[in-house]
Amino acid sequence: MQIINDPAEMQKTAENLRLKHQLIAVVMTMGALHEGHLSLVRIAKQKAGTVILTIFVNPRQFGLDEDFHRYPRPFEKDAAMAKAAGVDYLFAPDAELMYPEGFETQVCTGDVASRFEGIKRPGHFNGMATVVLKFMMTSKAHLAIFGEKDAQQLAVIKRMVSDFNIDIQIIEAPIVREEDGLATSSRNIYLSSQEREQAAVLYRSICHAKELAAQGTTETEKILAEVTALIDSAPDTKIDYVGIVDPETFAETEKLDANGKYRLLLAVWIGSTRLIDNGILELSLNSD
Ligand code: PAJ
Repeated sequence: MQIINDPAEMQKTAENLRLKHQLIAVVMTMGALHEGHLSLVRIAKQKAGTVILTIFVNPRQFGLDEDFHRYPRPFEKDAAMAKAAGVDYLFAPDAELMYPEGFETQVCTGDVASRFEGIKRPGHFNGMATVVLKFMMTSKAHLAIFGEKDAQQLAVIKRMVSDFNIDIQIIEAPIVREEDGLATSSRNIYLSSQEREQAAVLYRSICHAKELAAQGTTETEKILAEVTALIDSAPDTKIDYVGIVDPETFAETEKLDANGKYRLLLAVWIGSTRLIDNGILELSLNSD
C-alpha cells in the first residue's frame, strides 16, 4: 500500500492508473476506521482493480462549536487497517495542500441539503460536498462508495454528481451495526459505558417504526410520537430531530403510501455525543 499526502501526486498517480486501463474505486473517510468503513473497502475491492482510501478530517465541514479538534486521528492504526483490508493507495492529504492560501471556491448545495442536518449544521453540506468533489477530481475514480449511515450526505452527493455531470458511479453501502444494533461510528468512542448502553435505543426505535409501518400504520405523526417516546425513555438522550422523509428529496412525509419507500431519520444527543441513524420504512413487511 502506498501512502500519498500531496493532491497533485495523487492525481498524477491516478492518471497513470487510468492510462493502464485500471478501474479505480474510491472510499472517502475521516479516519478512525471501523467495520463500517471496512465494509465500503470490501465493496470497492469487489468492484474495481485499484482501491484508493482517503483519510482527511475536513475542517470545512465542521461548525465552530463542533468536535473538529477532538475528532480521533489514530493514523498509524488506520494505515495498518487499510493495508490489511487490501487498500492500494492511502491518500491522506495535508490540510495546507487541500486548502492552500487563496482557496475560495465552494460547492453550493441546494434543497436536499437544506433540511434536517442542513438546519442543525449550517455550512456542513457545502464543506462536505466541496471536499468530496476535490477527492473525486484528485482520485479520478470510476466508482465511489458511500454508506447509507449518512443518508442525507449520500443524497446530496448523488444530486451534485447528477447536477455537475460528474463521470463517476456512486455505490450505496448498507449500514454496519454492532451486535445491539448501534451503527458503527468513529464518534462511538466518545460514549461512556452507560451512554453506550443507552445508544442502542436508536436502533430499537428504528425497528419499532419499521414494525409499525409494516403493520399498516400510515400516519407519520403516530410513528414519530412512538419513536420519540422510546428514545426519551433512555435517561441521557436528547432528541435533535426525528423525521420521516422521501429518500431522494428529504422532504417530510405526512402519510405513508403503500407503494412508497420512506426514510426515518434520527439525530440524538447522548450526553455530549451526537449520533445519527436511519432506516427504511415500507408499509409492506420487510426486514432491511
Ligand atoms: P466518515 O464519517 O468517516 O464516513 C466515511 C464513509 O463511511 C461514509 O460514506 C459513511 O456513510 C460511511 N460509514 C460510516 N459509518 C458507517 C456504517 N456504520 N455503516 C456503513 N457505512 C458507514 O462521511 C464522512 O466521513 C465525510 O463526510 C466524508 C464523506 C469523508 C467527507 O469528508
